[in-house]
Amino acid sequence: MTYETSIDLSAHVRKASVALLQARLSDALDLEAQAKQAHWNVRGRHFLQLHGLFDAVHGEVEEFVDLLAERITTLGHVADGRVQTTAGATTLYDYPLAAHGGDAHLRALAASLALFGKAVRAAIDAAAQAGDATTADLFTQISRGADKQLWLLEAHLIAD
Ligand SMILES: [Fe+2]
Repeated sequence: MTYETSIDLSAHVRKASVALLQARLSDALDLEAQAKQAHWNVRGRHFLQLHGLFDAVHGEVEEFVDLLAERITTLGHVADGRVQTTAGATTLYDYPLAAHGGDAHLRALAASLALFGKAVRAAIDAAAQAGDATTADLFTQISRGADKQLWLLEAHLIAD
């Protein structure tokens, strides 16, 4: 179902943007859960630092989720954040339940974050081509944030 809006984007353009936004919303919701999975289960010598880092990543991803969902509703559509939809639509890696130790959690979360970042970057161009520069800008904002979070994770994986 859709809602009337006086936004000066055609129904066709809005539908194209919403498809892009919904796909990345499912990924972002999965990523949010994966960050908590790492936050709760990490153990090891750097526990306290990584426990905090993974929660900070979760907080950033939560912002992405809100940006994506509220752009969908802004465009007159229904944002689908249901767990069942997320599970069926996510394109991220399954988070390894057996991961233990800081590096395993860093690698698992970084891999999913990198996939998310790649898909968001592709969505920038797709939204622009669909004729919605505003949604393209939102994807650009999220892409910048995702790249930064990936840096924070990967910086911990360099041997010192
Ligand atoms: Fe916590």
